[in-house]
Amino acid sequence: MAGDGSAATLESTLRDLVRTLEPGARLPSVREIVERHQVSPVTVGKVVARLSAAGVLVTRPGSGTFVAAPPARARARRPDTAWQSLVLAGRSVDLGALREAPRDPVPGTISLSGGYLHRSLQPLSALASAMSRAARRPDAWDRAPAGGLPALRSYFAEATAADVGLDDVLITTGGQNALAMAFRAIGAPGDAVLVESPTYPGALAALAAARLRAIPIPLGPDGIDPDDLRQAFARTGSQLLYCQPTFHNPTGIVLSESRRQAVLEVAHAARAFIVEDDYARHLSHDGGTTRSLLGHDVHGTVVQVTSLTKPAAPSLRVGAIVARGPVAERLQASRRVDDFFVSRPMQEAALELTSSPRWAGHLNGLKRALRDRHRILSDALRARLPEWEPVAGKGGGLYLWVRLPPNADPAEIVRRASEQGVDIESGQRFFPAEADGPFVRLSFAAAADSVALEEAVDRLAPIGAG
Ligand SMILES: Cc1ncc(COP(=O)(O)O)c(C=O)c1O
Repeated sequence: MAGDGSAATLESTLRDLVRTLEPGARLPSVREIVERHQVSPVTVGKVVARLSAAGVLVTRPGSGTFVAAPPARARARRPDTAWQSLVLAGRSVDLGALREAPRDPVPGTISLSGGYLHRSLQPLSALASAMSRAARRPDAWDRAPAGGLPALRSYFAEATAADVGLDDVLITTGGQNALAMAFRAIGAPGDAVLVESPTYPGALAALAAARLRAIPIPLGPDGIDPDDLRQAFARTGSQLLYCQPTFHNPTGIVLSESRRQAVLEVAHAARAFIVEDDYARHLSHDGGTTRSLLGHDVHGTVVQVTSLTKPAAPSLRVGAIVARGPVAERLQASRRVDDFFVSRPMQEAALELTSSPRWAGHLNGLKRALRDRHRILSDALRARLPEWEPVAGKGGGLYLWVRLPPNADPAEIVRRASEQGVDIESGQRFFPAEADGPFVRLSFAAAADSVALEEAVDRLAPIGAG
């Protein structure tokens, strides 16, 4: 083999080797593989972990790595499903930018990717108590109201700091479900939807699944420009804007206070809705948050989406949509048709968590932790990778959005980072159309601690401009 240190090449070599061996045969040791194929131990560890996860190898600590027995499923008779392709033709779900993510964690790799808190930042003990209190309630397994538990709807209504009540809130299974519901409720297939560029890939995937066309609006340091927005509404005839005005993913940008009112006025003049993704309300690094678009809205223009997965944990799949008027009725109806209501124990657990005194303590600690991690990662990049230029966010969120040198290829940088044992994300998938230059997104919340963040930058430093 070429001995080029590539995990992909080593993986295919090991797969070839496995094909020549019997189940249960022992693989060469890590040291032998390192010497024979001129790759680093990190690469070997990563490839072995990947092949173990795929059921090709089995690792027994202390004795070595062995060829796995073929899984029962592979031996079972598989039906001939070719006919399905014809029946389903033209109705595929376009995963779009979600296709790349999420990846399985590879042991030894430092993850700076993904949009959730590392376990070390999650309120695990408060979650455990909330879950067990919720499960002990005698009505825990009863039906829940279609809109959600009233007390939980109240919590979300209050958290908006806007003039809304619990009747305006619909409980969802997280933010992604809320976005998909909102896009389907507002848009008809073929409609144009204005989006910030770059933006959250999950929103692009939800738009594509609803057969809506994403039209990019450039994002400046103060957010989108109301004049650009006015022109885009006029040019496309769109009646929907999707945006993240507060600690935008991936850039961390905040739509300035002075532009918020203007954006609302422009949307109202176009008789357009705004889906405001307020995913980062609790992810401010200094405690300050600007009033949401919903807080300024007097026409029912804003449909706000929010979720507990970001400040708590990815599997606390509870979020909310706040909407007023016929769109709210449509959303309530679609909840009933889709799945009646959100699982009651999950709602009870979310309620227990958010009403416990530990919740405020957790949010405070989280702010400090995110601020420290943001600083540590920025400082380390400045010192060891000065050619990578973080775009200045506005003191919130989970990410550094980093501009690479002009000729860098983000896909190649991500591949090389992976070889060095660091998982990062290419910026390309955040753009609805052509990318505005080469970028990567680094999540400072995904790593275990500050030592891991510094170690990650040490590993990335040799990559430089690619
Ligand atoms: C901007 C934004 N909105 C919404 C979501 C959806 O989050 P969830 O469905 O986990 O609540 C995400 C998750 O990455 C996000 O980054």
